[in-house]
Amino acid sequence: MPAWNRSSLRARTTWATGAVAALVCIGFSMLFLVFVGNQESESAETRATAGWDRVLPIIKLGQLPSVLPESRGDAIQVLNAHGRVVSATHQLVGRPPIATLPPGNDAAVRSQRSLCHVDGLTGCKTVVLFKVFQPDGIWLVNVAVPGVPWYGNRTVLSLVIGMSLLMTTMMAVGVSRAVGKTLGPVDAIRTELKEITGTGLHRRVPVPLNQDEIRLLAETVNATLDRLEGAYEQLRQFTSDASHDLRSPITAMRAQVEEGLMYPDDTDWPRTATEVLTGIDRLQAIVTDLLNLAKLDAGVMLNRRPTDLANMIAAELDRRTYRVRIVRRFSRSVVVDCDRLRVIRLLTNLLDNAERHADEQITIIVRADGPMAVLEVLDDGAGIAPEHRETVFDRFTRLEASRSRDAGGTGLGLPIARQIAQAHDGTLTIDDSAQGARFVLRLPRCDNSH
Ligand SMILES: Nc1ncnc2c1ncn2[C@@H]1O[C@H](COP(=O)(O)OP(=O)(O)OP(=O)(O)O)[C@@H](O)[C@H]1O
Ligand SMILES: [Mg+2]
Repeated sequence: MPAWNRSSLRARTTWATGAVAALVCIGFSMLFLVFVGNQESESAETRATAGWDRVLPIIKLGQLPSVLPESRGDAIQVLNAHGRVVSATHQLVGRPPIATLPPGNDAAVRSQRSLCHVDGLTGCKTVVLFKVFQPDGIWLVNVAVPGVPWYGNRTVLSLVIGMSLLMTTMMAVGVSRAVGKTLGPVDAIRTELKEITGTGLHRRVPVPLNQDEIRLLAETVNATLDRLEGAYEQLRQFTSDASHDLRSPITAMRAQVEEGLMYPDDTDWPRTATEVLTGIDRLQAIVTDLLNLAKLDAGVMLNRRPTDLANMIAAELDRRTYRVRIVRRFSRSVVVDCDRLRVIRLLTNLLDNAERHADEQITIIVRADGPMAVLEVLDDGAGIAPEHRETVFDRFTRLEASRSRDAGGTGLGLPIARQIAQAHDGTLTIDDSAQGARFVLRLPRCDNSH
């Protein structure tokens, strides 16, 4: 369960729900109480009218006793035209008038007042004044019935307050529980993420069973962790491979120099220097490759220019000689918008690899394929098994067969080549072929002939 503290989402939602529920309850309670109050005062008025109905015929008949019989405990007082009490129920016998008409006698036939602390009566009362028109003037019948507060009566008030408190508490507790239940998995994910930060990337956050947003969140977090772990592992592997590849030539050079120094007179120093220079060349090549990769990883700006692919490749092939036969199958006017130096770097690596592995011949094809320009480099060597066709693009990957053919390679050529292809929005893959390896580069064409 998520921790309960005042600023937590759960606490805030609970308080907000409680406040809204309380406001709604107060609103409805007020309406209900006012309604009940109106009903009660209507029935009090009916009760007062019944008292008047009872007394009026007796007044009219002139048979008014000095003590009136009472009904339901309601007090009645009859005042003659001079304002003197001529008859009253027993509570008001001998008491002064509880209410009189205002001066000027212009009050309505029936009027009403709320009076408290009336002599002879307990509590607050609603006193209804009825005018009775007699030959000698206007008589007054005061009927006092129990006073009705605006909320009706206390029982209803207590009931309404109790119900409101109960509803508000139930809503707040219900929402608090629901939010707690909803946030439980989020808290579990947070706790696990905290652990992962402290211990390692191999752990995953718990995925709740419900098909909801929190499950999607957990799945996304786990997918991100998968990628992070993969990237971290790749970086770790890369660093360890790079250090290993840098250390080998350094160790070899150091051994050569140490041996020379141990037997300086027997050492062929020019030969040692040449061997050390070879080592330095290798170190330089590795460092240059690493730098190239780092630049491509960082998304370096390309110096693009529209280039006829066949022309550029032909010029590159003419620059050097190969130990095997080169077959060219070029379509003309296949133009790509490319950074020439980098595409030549890609091509050189494919040609170097092909020359290293070919038996007799390398075939180079340039053609258009819809919106794409295609460059294929095929050799007639042993080829690359399907299961290695992706791994050879991983950094520092060298297959067993080529280690024997050329100990000098570092396994960075193809990863760089693929990065160059991708930087040009293209692809570099190894496709099926009848014999040998078939590298296929696809780049978007920039000529409008397709
Ligand atoms: N034409 C090919 N035929 C068979 N195997 C190949 C061919 N081209 C590449 N490979 C395999 O792929 C591996 C990776 O090639 P890549 O060009 O990345 O590295 P390299 O040539 O060994 O070293 P570098 O290019 O960094 O000097 C090679 O070591 C080799 O095993
Ligand atoms: Mg290579």
